[in-house]
Amino acid sequence: MKIQIINGPNLNLLGRREPEIYGNENFITYLERLRMEFPKVDLSYFQSNSEGELVTQIQMAGFDADYIILNAAGYSHTSIALADAISLVPAPVIEVHISNVFAREEFRKNLMTATKCMASITGFGLDGYALAISACLRKGKG
Ligand code: DQA
Repeated sequence: MKIQIINGPNLNLLGRREPEIYGNENFITYLERLRMEFPKVDLSYFQSNSEGELVTQIQMAGFDADYIILNAAGYSHTSIALADAISLVPAPVIEVHISNVFAREEFRKNLMTATKCMASITGFGLDGYALAISACLRKGKG
């Protein structure tokens, strides 16, 4: 099973960024733990702060991987371009949010990208990524 995790803007600073909301662990350390937890999954990772690079990555991974796990961060609330990219690729996309976006500011309740995703997981902290991988394994290859 081939899964690509794609993280959007400011998630490169996980562990240092608002730890009371996003926790103390950086994503690279967490990724090592994910790889140990799911040794049979071919797990690749991409992060960018730039919307265009995220579009390109969804286009590339979306024709190659079995699933994409996407946290588009701030762009989740605004990006038609990312929503369009999700729509056009054959790989199902699972949206993850570390925080519970529905329990925060009003503008975070609008999830433009999630409307095009197969499913979304929000509010479980970094564990949301592990839950998403488990869900992909349970569903199997499309
Ligand atoms: C986030 C929630 C977004 O509202 C925010 O802009 C982020 C992170 C999350 O994972 O909880 O950058 O996607």
